[in-house]
Amino acid sequence: MTDFVTATTESLRHAAQILRQGGLVAFPTETVYGLGADAEIPAAVARVFAAKGRPADHPLIVHLAGAEELDRWARDVPAAAYDLAAAFWPGPLTLILKRSSRASDLVTGGLDTVGLRVPSHPIAQELLQAFGGSIAAPSANRFGRVSPTTAQHVLSELEGRIDLILDGGPCQVGLESTIVDLSRGQPVVLRPGGITTERLTEVLGSLGTLPAATAPRVSGALDSHYAPRTRLILVPEANLAQQAEVLASTGKRVVVLSADHSLPLPAAVERIKWPAEQSSLASALYASLRAIDALDVDVALASLPAEQGLGQAIADRLRKAAAPRPEDNG
Ligand code: TXA
Ligand code: MG
Repeated sequence: MTDFVTATTESLRHAAQILRQGGLVAFPTETVYGLGADAEIPAAVARVFAAKGRPADHPLIVHLAGAEELDRWARDVPAAAYDLAAAFWPGPLTLILKRSSRASDLVTGGLDTVGLRVPSHPIAQELLQAFGGSIAAPSANRFGRVSPTTAQHVLSELEGRIDLILDGGPCQVGLESTIVDLSRGQPVVLRPGGITTERLTEVLGSLGTLPAATAPRVSGALDSHYAPRTRLILVPEANLAQQAEVLASTGKRVVVLSADHSLPLPAAVERIKWPAEQSSLASALYASLRAIDALDVDVALASLPAEQGLGQAIADRLRKAAAPRPEDNG
């Protein structure tokens, strides 16, 4: 049975109790909803993997109440990590650091590093305070699916598989945290997200690049992650209307996702209206990908935004949503 409740002081106290008993609580963060367990109860962490259907070698992010907790979970912390924490915590940034003995193999997927983040969402903060420990939490979706940005999204995927969903309304950022690996020399972005590369560079001066062959196991790095069920095709903006028309003329049911609301489209073609402003598009993006599946169309068309600021993370998620699926290969 999954309880679905509005986050209040009382329900947060109850949620903290569930966590202490090894239960699973979905909660809002500023990025996406997380599926939380006590990071120090192995059986609880194991339940997170089971509820998501996630392979055990994909590490979880440990959510901390404050930056002062960083040294409890990490060792040999470079100065750059403290600089980033000072600049962006609480907020949508995850730091990968060498793990301390507190981080179990279950949390880290057997890696010698741990992902740490201090969320800024007031409900996430209150939950961490009420709980008093650290919360291991991946995004609260089934493995391989689009991350949830509302409590209803969580309910639709995890009902009956977790103990409690705390409803705190829609997530503001709407894309996952930026992941920066500080465990192997020069800081490297493993996943673009809520903190832009431009802002990271202001603090760090420069960023390294990761050779593809040494990329660690980041489930967000799998090609077909963040995928709606309906096939999504990316086309240059100038060709959107024409592509929609060609597909519609062959009898395909088509939806076009675009911030250009006056794009001339055939009457039979559906339209999902994206906001023009970048941060508004980021917060609406995942709900728009879910909306594709609700329309019962054969194919969705969209264009990549300019890859500056949050556009980098938006483009990254759209490419993954449009990537070939494992099931396409039989
Ligand atoms: O915004 C977010 O980061 C959300 C909210 C709930 O905090 N969480 C989230 O978790 O997106 P998840 O598990 O869906 O994605 C976290 C990513 C995974 O791809 C995981 O592989 C990677 O972080 N990760 C975690 N620990 C890691 C580590 N030690 N080394 C490399 N990658 C790591
Ligand atoms: Mg995820």
